Parts: sequence; structure tokens; C-alpha cells
Amino acid sequence: MAITEEFKQELKARTDIADVISSYVQLKKAGRNLVGLCPFHNEKSPSFSVSRENGFFHCFGCGAGGDAITFIRKIENLDYADAVKLLADRAGMTIPEDAASDGMGHLKTRIYEANREAARFYHRQLYTPDGKQALEYLRNRALTEKTIIHFGLGYSPRDRFELVNHLKSKGFSNNEIIQANLANQSKRGFPFDRFSDRVMFPIIDLRGNVIAFGGRIMSDIKPKYLNTSDTPVFNKSRSLFALQFAKNKANGQLILVEGYMDVIALHQAGFENAVATLGTSLTSEQAKIIKRYCDEVVICYDADEAGQKATQRAIGILRPTGIKIRILTVPNGKDPDEFIKSYGDQGSARFRMLLEKSGNDTEYRLGKLRMRYNTDISEQKVEFLTKASAMISELENPVEQDVYISKLSHDLEVEKNAIKRLVEKNSRRSYREYKKAEQRQVQAEMSGLNDRLNKEKHFNLRAANAEEAIISLMIYNPDTAIEIAGHLPPETFVTGFNRRIYEVLKKRVENGQEITPSDISDEFSEDEMGRITKMLLSHPRENNPQAASQEYIEVLKEQSQRLTPEQAASADNDTIMEQLRRMKEKKK
Ligand code: GTP
Ligand code: MN
Repeated sequence: MAITEEFKQELKARTDIADVISSYVQLKKAGRNLVGLCPFHNEKSPSFSVSRENGFFHCFGCGAGGDAITFIRKIENLDYADAVKLLADRAGMTIPEDAASDGMGHLKTRIYEANREAARFYHRQLYTPDGKQALEYLRNRALTEKTIIHFGLGYSPRDRFELVNHLKSKGFSNNEIIQANLANQSKRGFPFDRFSDRVMFPIIDLRGNVIAFGGRIMSDIKPKYLNTSDTPVFNKSRSLFALQFAKNKANGQLILVEGYMDVIALHQAGFENAVATLGTSLTSEQAKIIKRYCDEVVICYDADEAGQKATQRAIGILRPTGIKIRILTVPNGKDPDEFIKSYGDQGSARFRMLLEKSGNDTEYRLGKLRMRYNTDISEQKVEFLTKASAMISELENPVEQDVYISKLSHDLEVEKNAIKRLVEKNSRRSYREYKKAEQRQVQAEMSGLNDRLNKEKHFNLRAANAEEAIISLMIYNPDTAIEIAGHLPPETFVTGFNRRIYEVLKKRVENGQEITPSDISDEFSEDEMGRITKMLLSHPRENNPQAASQEYIEVLKEQSQRLTPEQAASADNDTIMEQLRRMKEKKK
């Protein structure tokens, strides 16, 4: 899809970056900008800021940044064209559909087809003599016929060529079968089935495509589960098991469990809003997807230590999305599947009771915290209250804050206003922490250390900082940009990355085009956009851009005439004499 300049401009005009970001992040006003908790990394105090007037966002914590398109690319995991499409839809604009899909599109289609055929094949096996044992296994785990069909469960035969041969007979090539990860490739280059003698759980995306499989061994052999590795159609950190069913039954709430079997047992018991990650801990990508379908998550992980650690982690990942969190602990160290099964007909009613009892996570965390202190001793009471207020100050909703402040005040017989003041003190502190994080980031940026995108920066600090000042100045001041572009040749730029940015800006300016972040985001990767927005925030607007630009250009010219150590080693006589002459001139 070719996006024309006119289209880009219209989209820019109709898109308010603060509105776009507000659908994902709660923003508060702070000076000229808006700030909030960064959705791209896990944080407790806000390092994420949005400039409405300049159309960009930037996070000082993780370095993410860019325009509205970059934001959508990152948060929705879309490529540039799809992000434009999403924003265009939002703005009520239509883009002409792109022509026939490219090669990758074709391969993806074939993988979907191969997966679907494989799912049918595995399912049929359950009803053959070979699959009898698997069917019995599923029945022993208390799954009904209806559930087996609903989830499309199946069996992968022991013989390692059955699926491959079947798919080949249906016209799939070795490459397609291997790319789908339905087969592995032998040393001699032929494919053999990835799954053998396992109960199969197809993983289905929201459009109903079979994207992957999980396979469970029926004995104690390890690994217990084998999953499809990532393929062109499957990324395990962006998928959730059974979300295709759960999203329609969510009604504002999803239940998050650890295993395939937990999901299936819950659905069978009538809790069709259960989903699971695919054998990994929850990722922030999955959290964002969850956020789209509900406003409350009930985390229902195993009661063992690993499960409780995973719960804490999941809370940390879900919290920044602003979603409400509740924790359900299944008693007696059971997982949800075992719990339901152990109560037979009563399973469903029993689980419902647990669900109704489950508290939200603030309650859970405050409860856990309180257990660490003996609040009959005054010092410990004070310490507990200090920690508890810090916890409450993280809540964004003032009503929710008030609920816990009141509860603490009542439980500990402490004046409500005293706790309130503690909470407020913590809120102010988190703003100071934001400012500090900002400062640290700017300092690190200025020193050019650890700069992957611009490796030359550290060795040419003065030049790079001048370059970045010039770039920011141009973006902020279109008039000055025209002047600079008119007489500053790109070769003057010392560092390659900054030179590339300058070349893009110069070209656009010369064509009479604009150069705000949204105008250039198609020329740069997401990381590169993050770097550009960082420059913008580290070099605020100048009062006298023209004079400032003269100064920076002076510095840059002087720096660009310096020889690097390598250049000096290989320079000819004339170059060195010229350099000496310049140095003398400057001393005068
Ligand atoms: P059952 O033992 O069949 O009840 O499994 P479960 O669904 O209760 O799974 P369990 O709690 O043991 O593990 C939770 C999830 O972690 C599983 O559903 C799998 O997605 C994943 N998992 C468990 N064991 C393995 C393994 O050996 N390898 C991989 N890759 N994933 C695993
Ligand atoms: Mn289990």
C-alpha cells in the first residue's frame, strides 16, 4: 500500500495523539505535556509523556517514542501500513485496499490451511483404534464428548510420518509443513511429525484460524507439554488460549489460569471467560489484548510458590493497563481443573463461591503486607502504614484510594486524614521520581554511552549533541529549518545516524513538506523514532532559534573538521598542515 503525502497530512490533521493514547493510558496534565504510566514497560511512577502540540510521545524509562502511528505500531503490534489503516479507520478515512498479497502473505495463508487440515486430522485420530487410548485419557480427565468437539481436541499418532504424509497427499509442500512447525526437518532434509503420541490442543486466533498446537504426553515422560514454536502465523507471547471463545462471554471479566486443562475444565463447568497463556508467564502484549476485552481480570494461578510468584508478576504486568485485578486462590494446593473435578457435580457451584470470595489485588497485597508486621507495636504499625500508603498512592482512582484509606483507618484506629497525608506525600514523591528519571535519561543520552543506534556518538559527543540540537531546532521551527537546509551540507554531520535524520529533514523541507514526527515516522523504525523524540524532549524550544542555530552550526563545523584518530593515522601531509593552520587560526 502506498500512502500518499496528502493522505498522511489528512490523517495527521484528523489525529490527536493525546486522544489516541488516552484509549490505552490514563494521562494527567503536567506542565505543557501530559504524563502517565508507560504501557511499554512495567513502572510504578510515570516516565511517559505526550506532547499534544508537537504530536509525539516519549518514555524516559524505556526510550519508546514517536508519533501516533509509532504508538499504534507498538501497542497493537502492527506494521506501519496496518497502523495507518487503524488510525485512518478511527479518523473515518478509507485507504484504497492494497493489491494482491505478497509472498509472505501467501505463505501465511498456506500455513493456516495446513494447520486446519492438521487439526482435523488429529481430531479424527481420536476415533481410530490408534487414538483409543487418548480418547480414554480425555474421558478420564472428566471431559465430555461435547467439550472434546468444542475445543477440537485430538491425538497425534505415534508414527512420525502420518501427519506429514497426510498433508503431502493434500498438496502441502515440505517447506510449508516445516514452516508451520507441524514437522521438524531431519538432518537429511526430510520432514517428520513434530508431535507424536500426544493429546492435541489446537490454539485458535480471534478470526478462527488454527495458529498452533499444544500437545500433552499421556505418561510421565518429559516434556509434559510440547507447543508449536513461533511461526509466521504464531507468536506465543501475543496469543491466549481460548480467547476466541472467552471474548464473547467476557461480560467485562476474564479469568486467567495457567494451563490448557484448567481452561477447558472451567469452560465445561460454565466459566467460558477463562483464558491461559501458552506455557510462558504473562507478557505485556497479552495484557494489552486482555484489556481490549474486559475491565477486570481474575488471576487464578496454582497455589504453590511458583504460582504465587507468577501471580505477583502478572499483577505487575496488568496493573499499568489500568485493568481491575482480583486474585482467586484455589484451596489445598489444587489447580482449577483438579478443584472442579474433585467436587464432581458440585464443582461448578464450588468454583463460583471461590470466585465471589476473591478479593481485588490491593486487598490481597495489603493483606500480605500486614502479615509481615505486628501492628500492636507502634513502630511496626507506623512502618506498615508507610508502606501501605505507598501502595495506595499507586492507585489511579481517587475513589478506590479513599476506600482503602478508610479501611486502614478503621482497622488500625488511625485518623483518616493522617493516612491521607501519607498517601499524598507518596504521590508527590512519584512525581519527583519521574523528574529524576527524566534527568538521568537525559544525562545518559548526552554522554552517548550505550547508544546502539548511534555508535559514533560516544566518540564525537560535542558534535553529536550539536547535531541533535540542530535536528530538534529544525523540527520545532519550520522557518529556521528552511534556512538551515539551504546552507548546511549533510556531510558536515559527523555521526551517521544524525546525518541520516538530517538528510530526511532537508529533503522534505526542500520539497516544501512538513517535518513533525508524524511526517517522518515512515522513514524510521520504532526504536529510531524513540531516539528522535528523546532529542526533542532533551532540547526544548529555543526563544531565538535563528541565533541558536548559528551557534550549533559553528560548533558542528568546528567539530566536523577535527580528524578522528583513524583519519589522523592515515592522513596525508596536506591534510595535516591544513588542520594545523585551522587550529592556529582559532587561537588568534
Ligand atoms: P495437566 O497436568 O494436564 O493438568 O496440565 P495443566 O494444564 O494443569 O498444566 P500445568 O499446570 O502443569 O502447566 C501449565 C501450563 O504450562 C501448561 O498448560 C502448558 O502450557 C505449560 N507447560 C507445562 N509443562 C510444560 C512443558 O513441559 N513444556 C512446555 N513448553 N510447557 C509446559
Ligand atoms: Mn493441571
